[in-house]
Amino acid sequence: MFDVQAMRSGYGDMAVLKDLTFSIKDEIFAVLGANGAGKTTLLKTLARLLPLQSGSMKLGGADVSATPAHAMPSAGVAYVPQEGNVFPDLSVAENLSIGGRTGHRPKEEKLEEVFDLFPRLKERLSQAAGSLSGGEGQMLAVGRALMQDPKVLLLDEPSAGLSPIFVDTLFSSIEKARKESGVTIVLAEQNAVKTLEIADRVMVLSLGEMHLLREREGLEMKDITEAYHI
Ligand SMILES: Nc1ncnc2c1ncn2[C@@H]1O[C@H](COP(=O)(O)OP(=O)(O)OP(=O)(O)O)[C@@H](O)[C@H]1O
Ligand SMILES: [Mg+2]
Repeated sequence: MFDVQAMRSGYGDMAVLKDLTFSIKDEIFAVLGANGAGKTTLLKTLARLLPLQSGSMKLGGADVSATPAHAMPSAGVAYVPQEGNVFPDLSVAENLSIGGRTGHRPKEEKLEEVFDLFPRLKERLSQAAGSLSGGEGQMLAVGRALMQDPKVLLLDEPSAGLSPIFVDTLFSSIEKARKESGVTIVLAEQNAVKTLEIADRVMVLSLGEMHLLREREGLEMKDITEAYHI
């Protein structure tokens, strides 16, 4: 899906990600790392919201190193930011409807799939998104992104601030969405334990550098915690 070569990216002249080379296949690709490690910077760069300072990136074989952010949804990339990922004054139904404008399938068909993943949203269609609980808000943000029929879904810490039971529900829905629609998922997370349950491969970032990139199979928590603290 993504093929990234020597990615350097950050804010102004400051580089946060210094030299990242990796590819993301058709999989659940987890990005782990402590606060400030560069997870959000990486997802924003993949979504083209931050310019590459140097290096290149391809999406499905096509060079997207200079593609504007607004062209990424129609190229198949949906991005769910860490915060501010729904329109708080609009209803649940309106939020989903806005997401559903891209893609070719009828909106109703996609809505049914989202309700199947997140039945709770169906019960709250007319409620303002800003009045949802934290967990419901994350469900709406993921549901809205899925309404774009993406090939790649970039999720920035969807479990942040959620109670364990909500994290379980959300993560099983993410796994189900992957199984049913085949969407590639890039999941930035702090919750390493839960992430290991669903990821196919895991990258650990520390101070903007990649300290581990491995298949989940055979990976142990101690490998991850070691990479966190390099
Ligand atoms: N807008 C910005 N301007 C300047 N520096 C920034 C900006 N946003 C983030 N940074 C810096 O970039 C580094 C990486 O931040 P980033 O948000 O990517 O980390 P993160 O891994 O997502 O952390 P968290 O788990 O806390 O969300 C940090 O040192 C941060 O201070
Ligand atoms: Mg972040």
